[in-house]
Amino acid sequence: MTCVDPDAFALLRHKDVSSALIEEIAPELLGGTLVAQDGGAHRQARDAIKAAFLPKGLTQAGIGDLFAPIIRARVQAWRDRGDVTILRETGDLMLKLIFSLMGIPAQNLPGWHRKYRQLLQLIVAPPIDLPGLPLRRGRAARDWIDTQLRQFVRDARAHAARTGLINDMVSAFDRSDDALSDDGLVANIRLLLLGGHETTASTMAWMVIELARQPVLWDALVEEAQRVGAVPTRQAELAQCPVAEALFRETLRLHPAVTLLPRRALQDLQLGQQRIPAGTHLCIPLLHFSTSALLHEAPDQFRLGRWLQRREPIRSVDTLQFGTGPHVCIGYHLVWLELVQFSIALALTMHKAGVRPRLLNGAEKGVGAITRPHIRP
Ligand code: HEM
Repeated sequence: MTCVDPDAFALLRHKDVSSALIEEIAPELLGGTLVAQDGGAHRQARDAIKAAFLPKGLTQAGIGDLFAPIIRARVQAWRDRGDVTILRETGDLMLKLIFSLMGIPAQNLPGWHRKYRQLLQLIVAPPIDLPGLPLRRGRAARDWIDTQLRQFVRDARAHAARTGLINDMVSAFDRSDDALSDDGLVANIRLLLLGGHETTASTMAWMVIELARQPVLWDALVEEAQRVGAVPTRQAELAQCPVAEALFRETLRLHPAVTLLPRRALQDLQLGQQRIPAGTHLCIPLLHFSTSALLHEAPDQFRLGRWLQRREPIRSVDTLQFGTGPHVCIGYHLVWLELVQFSIALALTMHKAGVRPRLLNGAEKGVGAITRPHIRP
């Protein structure tokens, strides 16, 4: 059942709604990960990692200082090259960031990138296991990735003094009463790499596309970047960048990186006048809510003012692109930091060189804007 009434969003918080359907839909990709678990098993895995992703954990670990030079270097390379295919570039950048966050040496990044692309084929692979078909290729990619991750886990145990999220996760999991098997640990590390990679890379690419489409937006961002003068590195500094924050929120509202969430009703549920029988498969359509006229005025228009002029605090429905309830995205504060850092670095670097983003190859006219976006000084 797909329900387009925004009230259905609250089902994500309902105790009789289960995430186990996710494992049935994508057993090869998400089996054994916390996103597909309910109750105690889910809490145990989430508790082991959540503190590292809160503002305090990110600041204590110096994540902003770690990311700023990587982002600046990449944006400077774009300025020097002129034309870039933006989604490929943001994908590479995000892989580098997520690896540095996890404390994984950034060797053979193009190899990892290729494997990730093949891994994602498991979502849509028909159940035919033959050489060259997506299922076979996706499984081989997953085995390659898991072999590397298993080695990182072994290294983390051998060098407990090292820093990095993998080390923290391994010790937190090992310390917990009901320690996760290595398979569970590896599956959850793979989930973090996946969750933190494609989603943020596509949002970043959409931000550049929107900046290229709307010169006024670019000018506002440049003005803010010049006022703050440097890429922020601490969570507390993000408040000085309202335009960059509004850019991130409005881009994600119009182009949500996760478009729907699957769930199953464990008991009979009531939604308005509708009775939902136990066992029903539910589709919570985030893309639909995010652009619904019931929640937003002129929902199809890109308006920074929605965020800049608001008086009330951000509510969970304003961040619905990250879900809600027990499974709400663990990476929300990290994404906020990364995307503000990225926007400010882009504006400072390009403006100093007297250039601005622009779409090439008629990309602004239609499908090309999605599949082949470029920027050019
Ligand atoms: C624009 C970027 C992102 C978006 C739009 C996004 C969106 C989401 C959504 C909608 C969920 C809820 C899934 C559900 O309820 O079934 C989720 C969960 C999750 N996200 Fe994100 N995400 C983003 C970035 C990240 C990052 C950077 C990380 C970590 C590095 C991350 C890690 C996770 C994890 C581990 C979960 C599962 C949490 C749980 O099941 O308890 N995400 N994300």
